[in-house]
Amino acid sequence: MRTVNVPLGPRSYSIRIGPGLCSRVGQECARLGLGRRCAVISDSNVAPRYAGVVEGSLRAAGFEPCVMTIPAGEPSKRLRHVEACYDRLAAHRLERKSFVAALGGGVVGDLAGFVAATYLRGVALVQVPTTLLAQVDSSVGGKVGVNLAAGKNLVGAFYQPGVVLCDLDTLGTLPDREYRAGLAEVIKYGIIYDAALFRRLERDLDRLLDRDPDTLAQVIARCCQIKAEVVGQDETEGGLRAILNFGHTIGHGLEAISRYGKYLHGEAIAMGQVAAARLSARLTGLPVREVERIRALFERAGLPTAVRLDRRQRERLLGAMRLDKKVSAGELKFVLAERVGRVRWGQAVPQLELERVLAGGSPAEGD
Ligand code: NAD
Ligand code: GLY
Repeated sequence: MRTVNVPLGPRSYSIRIGPGLCSRVGQECARLGLGRRCAVISDSNVAPRYAGVVEGSLRAAGFEPCVMTIPAGEPSKRLRHVEACYDRLAAHRLERKSFVAALGGGVVGDLAGFVAATYLRGVALVQVPTTLLAQVDSSVGGKVGVNLAAGKNLVGAFYQPGVVLCDLDTLGTLPDREYRAGLAEVIKYGIIYDAALFRRLERDLDRLLDRDPDTLAQVIARCCQIKAEVVGQDETEGGLRAILNFGHTIGHGLEAISRYGKYLHGEAIAMGQVAAARLSARLTGLPVREVERIRALFERAGLPTAVRLDRRQRERLLGAMRLDKKVSAGELKFVLAERVGRVRWGQAVPQLELERVLAGGSPAEGD
């Protein structure tokens, strides 16, 4: 088993990565000195597979869990389900020392995390991520929340878990499309922080697509280490943490205009990252050959790379992007790359450049 530490002073915690961790949730929670009563929040795909093992492990360690399930998928990440969870927590008489375990992908992690952050003004949170995306990204760093019709993640909090348990065995049942969507966040870490990781992904992508356990364990641990380093320096996104949003402004806009139904989050941010790379070629000197390396890696991972919108859809996308949390003083700020492995945050992008890239302008066009 690998362990990565997230250094946040009194809110520091460990990310454990390895096989069989669902059956050790009870033991791991016992080390945190938590109250007996607890809740496992999961979704309709994950609960039938893994909630029994997690519940059994908690009971064996002396806890009294109740299990609640939300319908699988992004449309569930909304306040209505948060309220339903509060009602169940109240019925199970959770107390201040109780805790919530989030068992599932990023949707469950974000929603259950928000429930934990707000119920009784905060009960402890344990993240048990079961998608690749959640293991490398959403379960780490403390961003929790839900969507509004107006936009992604518009209601939320920073609320760190007590521990993150990445059970690699759970990835074995993840549908192929979801697995590939997780690779979009993995590739992001190479672009924003680690050129050697990006080269490794170019070299080992086939092994990753085959879900080779050793390659997966190493790559997940490296991604978690990068996220821990970034979050450890800037927990609440005063500056550096913004680099984790590379490709997300456009990606979140695409998700919002398609009402969270057409693209998976990872697919939307794959398109967003390629568009951000094209913008980078125009504005921060990313060489055109690097744009092509980035596009080619997403394509090999089976992810969409081109934003194809008509004029009306483009206008809606620009409108949705203006509602993004990255807007400051009315101006949209982007993360742009200088080269693979190095990015700049807080970059203003002229409207014309954005429209040109969204309309499919090539990186070299007009240069
Ligand atoms: P998800 O939670 O919807 O899971 C994807 C699908 O896979 C779901 O249908 C789920 O039921 C199913 N599933 C999960 N684990 C499975 C398993 N082991 N076997 C079989 N099926 C399984 O989606 P996701 O991609 O994990 O997360 C996306 C969400 O994460 C988005 O809402 C996004 O905004 C959020 N996110 C949050 C952060 C953050 O920092 N908090 C970062 C990135 C993404
Ligand atoms: N996924 C973006 C962040 O955690 O900051």
